[in-house]
Amino acid sequence: MMIRTSRWSVVLHILSVILSSLHGCSARDTITMKSSVVDGQTLVSAENRFELGFFGPSRSSNVKRYVGIWYTSNPQTVVWVANRATPLSDKSGVLHIANGYLKLSDKKGKVYWCTEQQNKRSNITVKLNDTGNLILYDVDVDGLGIKLWQSFEHPTDTFLFGMKNDGNLVFTSWTSEDDPAPGNFIFKQDPQANRLLVTNKSIIYWRSWRESGKIFELVNLNITEDDTRVHKNERIVMNFTGDLQYWQLFRGMKDWSLTWWEPKDRCSKYNYCGTFGSCNINSKLPCKCLPGFKPKVSEQWNAGEFVDGCSRNSTSYGTDFLSLKRMKLEYPESSFIINNVKDCRQECLRNNQCQAYTVNASKTDRQLSCLTWIEELKSIQEDQDDGYDLYVRVPVSDIAPTSRSCLTCGTNLVPYPLSTGPNCGDPVYYSFDCDMDTGQLSFMTPGGNYTVTHVNPKESIFDIEMEAKEAVNCHAMHSSGSKILQLNRSSPFNVTSSCSSDFTNDSPLKSTIEVKITWKPPLEPTCNSSADCKEWPHSTCNITGTGQKRCLCNSAFRWDGLGLTCTPGATGQLRDSFNKSKTLPLYLIVSLPIAMALLCAILSIYLWRTKMVKKRAKQRKAHLHRYDTERGVKELMESSHLEGKDGTGIDVPFFDFESILAATDNFSDENKLGRGGFGPVYKGKFPGGQEIAIKRLASVSGQGLEEFKNEVVLIAKLQHRNLVRLLGYCIKGEEKILLYEYLPNKSLDSFIFDESLSQQLEWGTRFNIILGVARGLLYLHQDSRLRIIHRDLKTSNILLDEEMNPKISDFGLARMIQGKQTEGSTLRVVGTYGYMAPEYAIDGVFSVKSDVFSFGVVMLEIISGKKNMRFYYVENTPSLIAYQF
Ligand SMILES: *[C@@H]1O[C@H](CO)[C@@H](O)[C@H](O)[C@H]1NC(C)=O
Ligand SMILES: *[C@@H]1O[C@H](CO)[C@@H](O)[C@H](O)[C@H]1NC(C)=O
Ligand SMILES: *[C@@H]1O[C@H](CO)[C@@H](O)[C@H](O)[C@H]1NC(C)=O
Ligand SMILES: *[C@@H]1O[C@H](CO)[C@@H](O)[C@H](O)[C@H]1NC(C)=O
Ligand SMILES: *[C@@H]1O[C@H](CO)[C@@H](O)[C@H](O)[C@H]1NC(C)=O
Ligand SMILES: *[C@@H]1O[C@H](CO)[C@@H](O)[C@H](O)[C@H]1NC(C)=O
Ligand SMILES: *[C@@H]1O[C@H](CO)[C@@H](O)[C@H](O)[C@H]1NC(C)=O
Ligand SMILES: *[C@@H]1O[C@H](CO)[C@@H](O)[C@H](O)[C@H]1NC(C)=O
Ligand SMILES: *[C@@H]1O[C@H](CO)[C@@H](O)[C@H](O)[C@H]1NC(C)=O
Repeated sequence: MMIRTSRWSVVLHILSVILSSLHGCSARDTITMKSSVVDGQTLVSAENRFELGFFGPSRSSNVKRYVGIWYTSNPQTVVWVANRATPLSDKSGVLHIANGYLKLSDKKGKVYWCTEQQNKRSNITVKLNDTGNLILYDVDVDGLGIKLWQSFEHPTDTFLFGMKNDGNLVFTSWTSEDDPAPGNFIFKQDPQANRLLVTNKSIIYWRSWRESGKIFELVNLNITEDDTRVHKNERIVMNFTGDLQYWQLFRGMKDWSLTWWEPKDRCSKYNYCGTFGSCNINSKLPCKCLPGFKPKVSEQWNAGEFVDGCSRNSTSYGTDFLSLKRMKLEYPESSFIINNVKDCRQECLRNNQCQAYTVNASKTDRQLSCLTWIEELKSIQEDQDDGYDLYVRVPVSDIAPTSRSCLTCGTNLVPYPLSTGPNCGDPVYYSFDCDMDTGQLSFMTPGGNYTVTHVNPKESIFDIEMEAKEAVNCHAMHSSGSKILQLNRSSPFNVTSSCSSDFTNDSPLKSTIEVKITWKPPLEPTCNSSADCKEWPHSTCNITGTGQKRCLCNSAFRWDGLGLTCTPGATGQLRDSFNKSKTLPLYLIVSLPIAMALLCAILSIYLWRTKMVKKRAKQRKAHLHRYDTERGVKELMESSHLEGKDGTGIDVPFFDFESILAATDNFSDENKLGRGGFGPVYKGKFPGGQEIAIKRLASVSGQGLEEFKNEVVLIAKLQHRNLVRLLGYCIKGEEKILLYEYLPNKSLDSFIFDESLSQQLEWGTRFNIILGVARGLLYLHQDSRLRIIHRDLKTSNILLDEEMNPKISDFGLARMIQGKQTEGSTLRVVGTYGYMAPEYAIDGVFSVKSDVFSFGVVMLEIISGKKNMRFYYVENTPSLIAYQF
């Protein structure tokens, strides 16, 4: 922008130079029509805070002169530059008032900078105010001025208090320390989102968290120029390094102090780890993909370039949620008010594209707002004090690939065989602790507990963080790490730290080193029964040389501890026909109408079959006699010598009371699982680790013995995958004890009536449960050698195994009826109100149909998630079955 000036103005210029030199060194703060500032002269504000003049930051031999404003304090701290991109190459510059504007030109009249041309004014004055603001006034006869232009409206890289923040100010960094030309970084307010924004060219580099953060507050204080605060020496600079810095010069100090800056660490940078990448400032490798996600471009990711981020490991979003604590990330665009926390989850599940949700409680009106992300998650930071609970939708199979794997801990995968508890992983690797509140994973050693920062399942390696003291430096760890951690020889872990010097630790307060630890490939998984080995094809649960039970590979296969599979051995190759394709449990998500249609079909087939049986039974009624069920049981028991201490004749083993006392820790309350029909149920553990459910029949109840014998005899003869398996029994004095297989998922009612657990129960699973119960019941009624009427079918008597397969339990009330008979009667009506068929409840007549009635109630409860007897959905409707859809 070169303006050729008229000869007359050159004359004026020379005049003003002469005039101003006459002023000598006496400080002044204005330029008038008659004065100017030449290189070497300065304006000084009234109270000597700011100075305007020519300066040259360049250390190179090329002369570069700029007009700027700086603090009068040493060292020179420039807060504004006029000709930032157009320096003068000699010291002939003059700043003077031209025809209605302020301009900077050299001796040849070449213009280097000027303010916008105003209407032609006769009397213009320029003043350097004590706030650091350079103001162009139009002065009338009375000496009153109208502001025509001010440097506070045209800032360069520095925010000073007194600047009016109307949301349109833009600050541009210098190019380098000695070049004030506009650089890469731009700081401005994002008016829509009410946030501050720093961009590197056009790419977002940092973004404030909504209206929070020190710098946001400062910039939005809106201090006016007549406020006393403007006289404190404070400034905010968009530094050429990309940092937004808050500097303060404290009274009596010579140097400025950097008291605040953003982004304050790597993780604060906008989307530093890319989409779905989580940033942890404490970790040497700051970024990791959220569990269930993998790097989009692994080569880049492994090379430390995280911008591409991560993507879902499987295409399905699933219906499970990864629960993360203390997380911060970019908010989604929209949110809405909800009444109930679980509504948010429902809302997310309803939308096929929903990636995650969180619930925010407003501090003022306690209103809950639900935030759901349809977009990819960005700028994820973990372990933030002001972070919140985040639920990311991920299929459970993506985060715990085997049923034996431990659940994730925060953003950490815990791959098999690593173990955070006695019920997952491999017991040998149980050296980890998960803090549920913080999502922090620790490695527990006799030498102390250490935070795990990173786990790499592929390479069987994880990193722990350790305070760097003199005793524990990287080289010490390298040579004797196992000794420092006090890992003994039998430990499956081994320190392999390599001392790299490239650890750029962001946080100057922390001096930590990261130590790498490998784990040995595990032996075959432990097991209790062959069912435990289902996930490891070609293996069988068998006793090893050391007496443990493990899923040993079948002959022609050998265990591959790295791949965690049985692979064909060197000698034997299986033919293809043997190599059945891996059939993964496929949980179909069946929508309600389809599920209902299928159920109706099953029910009608069931009813048709029982009807046919009944018809035939009626036809032969003459030949039948009612079988005394009580006597039947007695006969059965006598034939099986149950009375004897040793249960010869019965398929199930007898356990002595002492071993049961030991297994349940003297029936301690910690081991209590709940109460069954006739007494409490405990969890027991036998030496060797086998877990078992132990039902202790109440010794006070007179009916106990009867039910006990009944149950042992009946269940011992029943074998079906949908019936709970009896593993043993014990009688000693008054004590009558039954030992069942232990089902970790407890009973169905604990799932379907629980707010959070019920959410995990998708339609496919519910359908399978209903189907399983129906199969179990059909077996009892029809397919077993005995005909059994359960009489107490209800959701709390349906137990669930690891794969959510239902198993009918509690046969204390069950009655056996003779082969072809389909009903019986009793004087003593027992059962559970709400599940009992009317004819049984009123007349004591029980039949397969009364079980089917109960089954119907159970089915309605499974579908609706409502308790039959607690159904208050519609007024005047006493129960679920009375409710008309
Ligand atoms: C011009 O402004 C000065 C003060 O800056 C004032 O003294 C003078 O009277 C003004 N002249 C005219 C013509 O307005
Ligand atoms: C600061 O003042 C300006 C001008 O008066 C106004 O537009 C802006 O909204 C104010 N900002 C805040 C945060 O109050
Ligand atoms: C800013 O962006 C440029 C590329 O446009 C890049 O080379 C540079 O490293 C970035 N600066 C920072 C501090 O990230
Ligand atoms: C100049 O600074 C003073 C305080 O030193 C302030 O009161 C005044 O408002 C400022 N003038 C303008 C035009 O902003
Ligand atoms: C920019 O940051 C660097 C490093 O923090 C600092 O030395 C320098 O003084 C800063 N520049 C300005 C203009 O504050
Ligand atoms: C991720 O997907 C790949 C195949 O796409 C699979 O091999 C791998 O086991 C999956 N990882 C997890 C943790 O599910
Ligand atoms: C390590 O963590 C475990 C589990 O939280 C705790 O019981 C134990 O006391 C801790 N040990 C040390 C040395 O802090
Ligand atoms: C640990 O690693 C060192 C060297 O890498 C090796 O000599 C040692 O045998 C390993 N210890 C175990 C228990 O694997
Ligand atoms: C279990 O191991 C024994 C020898 O240890 C072997 O004889 C037996 O066949 C194995 N059983 C199965 C089912 O593999």
